[in-house]
Formats: sequence, C-alpha cells, structure tokens
Amino acid sequence: PINEMGVTPAMGWNNWNAFACSVSEDLLISTAEKMAAFGLRDAGYEYIVLDDCWSMGRDSKGNLQYDPAKFPNGMKSVAEKVHSLGFRFGMYSDAGSYTCARYPGSLGYEEQDAITFASWDVDYLKYDNCHNQGLSGTPKITSERYRTMTNALRAAGRPILYAICNWGEDFPWKWGPTVANSWRMSGDIYDSFDRPDPRCPCGGDEYVCAYPGSHCSVMNILNKAASIIDTSLPGAFNDLDMLEVGNGGMDDEEYKAHFSMWAAVKSPLFMGNDVNVMDAKALSILNNPAVIAVSQDPLGVPAIRRWRYYVNDTDQYGQGEIQMWSGPLYGGDQLVILLNAGNSARKMTATLADIFCVAAGIAKEIKEDWDIYDLWANRMDDATAQSIIDSGSLDAASVKSFYYNATQTSFKDGL
Ligand code: DGJ
Repeated sequence: PINEMGVTPAMGWNNWNAFACSVSEDLLISTAEKMAAFGLRDAGYEYIVLDDCWSMGRDSKGNLQYDPAKFPNGMKSVAEKVHSLGFRFGMYSDAGSYTCARYPGSLGYEEQDAITFASWDVDYLKYDNCHNQGLSGTPKITSERYRTMTNALRAAGRPILYAICNWGEDFPWKWGPTVANSWRMSGDIYDSFDRPDPRCPCGGDEYVCAYPGSHCSVMNILNKAASIIDTSLPGAFNDLDMLEVGNGGMDDEEYKAHFSMWAAVKSPLFMGNDVNVMDAKALSILNNPAVIAVSQDPLGVPAIRRWRYYVNDTDQYGQGEIQMWSGPLYGGDQLVILLNAGNSARKMTATLADIFCVAAGIAKEIKEDWDIYDLWANRMDDATAQSIIDSGSLDAASVKSFYYNATQTSFKDGL
C-alpha cells in the first residue's frame, strides 16, 4: 500500500449516483447532517465526497476555482463544516485534461492541484479517467499517469486517501496497490440487479454512449470482480463502484444482496442515494452493523467465489444463477454467502469442503463445533448450525449438490 490509510475499505457517501452534476454546499452539508442524525456516521460512513461538476475553471495562475454559485462560502468552509459534523471531506478530479463533465482536469497540473486540495483541507481524492489524451493502453502508461498524482499528494503533505477511477482499464488490480488506496475495476454501476443498461451496456463508458448515464448491473460488476478480487489487500482495494441502495431500481432483497456482496469482497462502501428521502428499509440495509462489520473486518481479506451455477430461471433478461462465496474473517470466523441471483426461491447446498476450500476429509473435522451467525437476522442460527453438524453441509435440504473437479476451473452440478 502507498500509505497507512484506508486499511479497511473506505466508507462514506458520494453525490454522483443520485445527483450527478446537481452539486452544492447545501447538498453536502445537509447530507452530512442527516447521516449523522440517522446514525450512519457512527455506523462507519466517514467520507462525504463531492464528485464531478464543482469547478469553474482555473485562474490566471492556473489555480483551480470552485464555482461560487454552488459553493458560496468556499471549499475550505465546506470542509470545515463537514469536519465539524464528524466526517472527512472528499473531492474529485480527473487524470486527463478535462473531467468527464468537461470541467478542468488535473493532467499536467498534478502538483499544483494537490496543493490546492490540501489547502482546502480535503481528506480524500477520487481521480477519474476521462479526456486522458490517449495516455492509456498499457499498464505502464496508465499507472504512471495515476502515479504522478500519488506523488503529488504525498508532496502536498496532507494525508489524502487516494481512490482512482479508471474503470478497470489496463488492469489496475495488477498495479493498483503501488499507486492508490483503491481502484475502480468496472464501468459505472447502474441501478439494476441483473439487467445491463440497454442503451449503454456494461464494458464501455458513458462518454462513448450517446447519453449520460451508465451501464453495469450489480451482477455484471460482481461477476467481473470474481476473477480479480483476490488482488485486494488491506489499504489497497478493488472498488466495485458506489452503492445504489435506496435509489429505487431494485427491490429490497436485491439491495440486500448488492450491499452484502460489496461488503463481503471488501469494496469501498459509498452510499449513492438521496439521504433526504431515504426510507426506513434503505436505512436498515445501509446501517446493518453485522454486514458493516464484515466490510470492516480487520483481516481485510475479500470473500472468494467458490462456485457459480446457472439455473433455469430464464426471464426476459436471460438465465439466472446461484453462487457461493466464502472467506476468512478475523479470529477464525468464516463468512459464507449463498447468493440466489435467479428469479425464484431455491434451496442451495454448500459443502464445508467448498466453504473452507479444503479436501472433504479436513472439512469433516471442521464441522464438529460450528456455530452460525445470521448477518441479516442479526442472531445466532442454531438450527442451521445443527444441520451442518449432522450433514457436513450448509442447508442440508437442498435439491442440488455439487462436486469440485480439481482439474477444471469451475464447479459442476454433481446431481
Ligand atoms: C465517471 C465515473 O466513473 C463516475 O463515477 C463519475 O465520477 C463520473 N465519471 C463523473 O463525471
């Protein structure tokens, strides 16, 4: 990792998903006030992050200017207010000549802009990838472009958590830990569980598409993350993009799955909703202390997808699938997720060998004294624990079982 910060995944709120360019100091401060009042600050949401569209250009000396119509009291006073409410303050720039919304970018101005951000008491920088003058295409070119800002932030002397946002281009999971505290590994999230944006499908970015908006469903991003997530380390995490919980495009079970998976794989957790109109259900998902504890687990190890199985749940968006993810937690605990991304209720079985990724014989020894804690019910689940002890697998009543063929890379239906 590049610094001592962000040892567990960063948590906070970012305006982009719900407000896009409609930014103002009132929005940031009223959001911070509400988050504190709702207990979200105390639950761990730490950063209030201002995304694109805050700028008004550069002055004659090249210094970035905030838009005084949106920020009449100035950026330093926003930071002060955010700090006084017990949060840290994040801002946005771009490793190109313009931001995605065509405000000035920091390419070629890295030192100067890092000093400006430090002088505004900024604690976090999100650093985007638009208009990068073709400085991409290889890991070396892209990582060097981003590393210029790593060094500039260091030289500016203020601890600033550094979150880069290059949409997975040029394999940031290979070089990210030496450049940033987190890196986006996909195109922008779209408020949908498994339906990609038909106008701008996952894989491109919105600036290629003819309208502003974006592209990747929760399952698009998760399935991409599955192949690279083990590159995350404490202080250097794959970022699956900001949360859509509360924005209305998914049902509550889907939002629970979205939040659970982002926590399990140690993605940064940035709320992306309008806190002023948040309902009790969205709040109860976002401030579930047991799931947040998984995100902030001191071990910092992402859960891994142990198997994926297609199920015949075809709807207009295609086939459904079920998956099992697991991973170690601090103190010898083990996280297990049975993810049903199909369209109907379904029983699933995960063997202890799968959950612990060990041979069946070793799994038998593990099963003897096992307790289960249900993270959504927030209680011990003794009945399920007993059935594991009896059967050696989670959810003994499942209609399917699975075996792992070590010579292949995927799990298959064992019938
Ligand atoms: C693209 C990023 O991926 C988004 O998260 C957001 O920051 C927009 N740019 C802002 O223009």
